[in-house]
Amino acid sequence: MMPLPARLKIVEVGPRDGLQNEPEPIATDVKLAFIARLAESGLSQIEATSFVHPKAIPQLADAVEVARRLPAAGGVTYSALVPNQKGLDRAIEAGMRRIAVFTAASDSFAKKNINMTVDESLATFAPVVAAALERGITVRGYVSTCFVCPFEGDVSKQRVREVALRLFDMGIDEVAISDTIGAASPRDVFETVGCVLEQSPREKIALHFHDTYGTALANVLAGLQLGVTTFDSSAGGLGGCPYAPGASGNLATEDLVYMLDRMGIHTGVDLGKVFEASSLIAQTLRRQLPGRQWRKLSAEAGDADPTR
Ligand code: COA
Ligand code: ZN
Repeated sequence: MMPLPARLKIVEVGPRDGLQNEPEPIATDVKLAFIARLAESGLSQIEATSFVHPKAIPQLADAVEVARRLPAAGGVTYSALVPNQKGLDRAIEAGMRRIAVFTAASDSFAKKNINMTVDESLATFAPVVAAALERGITVRGYVSTCFVCPFEGDVSKQRVREVALRLFDMGIDEVAISDTIGAASPRDVFETVGCVLEQSPREKIALHFHDTYGTALANVLAGLQLGVTTFDSSAGGLGGCPYAPGASGNLATEDLVYMLDRMGIHTGVDLGKVFEASSLIAQTLRRQLPGRQWRKLSAEAGDADPTR
């Protein structure tokens, strides 16, 4: 086996990517309790909400309130999605210290998701990122549909590399190469992420997988073998994008932590505490969550019926 990193960073996206697709409204207090439990689990990075158009993502229309009331947990950095200047204004008003801009590697998806082509989105972000950095707000960037686009099919790895480079050129400190519909295989990861890493610093690349076809953990292993040390995941395997047909939940944080613990790779995250956090959402939504560890622990706790 190839040498593996001794430790790595998990970016918890449950409160944002996880909840954005849930049609049933979740009370702001429940979201804050979810975030508080996630923060207690040892996660150091939590994406808390999204300053997008409330009509685009009604579930996260309470972004300003969530951001203002975020638990002051030492050692946790919170971030939130920002698509444009209006989003940045709201994020600043709410006191965010880290934001994430998001584009795609395919124009059709970018148009559906943010009503801009990839080039238009990069032109929109440049002044937004500059204004954020000037205020000491740090910036992450997402590139969606890096492997397969739900509208265009296979995506060119050179295009992914180019979009990532253009984000880094703006001063963004981390780019998340994202498999929005969860279609990638480890071979895609080796090829596309390998291509990105030819020109971008390894420590600034994050990988963001969804688990639609059950390939997410295999893709993490491919990423580890490429030397990537930052991975996104969502508590319980919640998640999906309403603008990406066929997208299902994110890789579950509990499943990622289990595998890494077992491999002797340090994350500082307590799996049981993440399970407590995701169980709060399961109880609120009155349904089982897709994560494997979530199902196992929930059955063991005699809690197979989350409606109880
Ligand atoms: N927050 C709140 N309102 C916003 C906003 C933001 N970030 N950006 C724009 N608006 C408002 C404008 O003020 C304007 O309002 P008005 O009509 O009252 O003047 C209206 O929205 C239209 O603005 P425009 O710039 O033309 O936006 P748009 O209609 O082209 O939508 C986005 C672009 C990016 C705002 C929208 O597509 C969006 O929020 N997408 C997010 C999708 C998403 O989150 N997907 C999941 C994550 S991968
Ligand atoms: Zn996602």
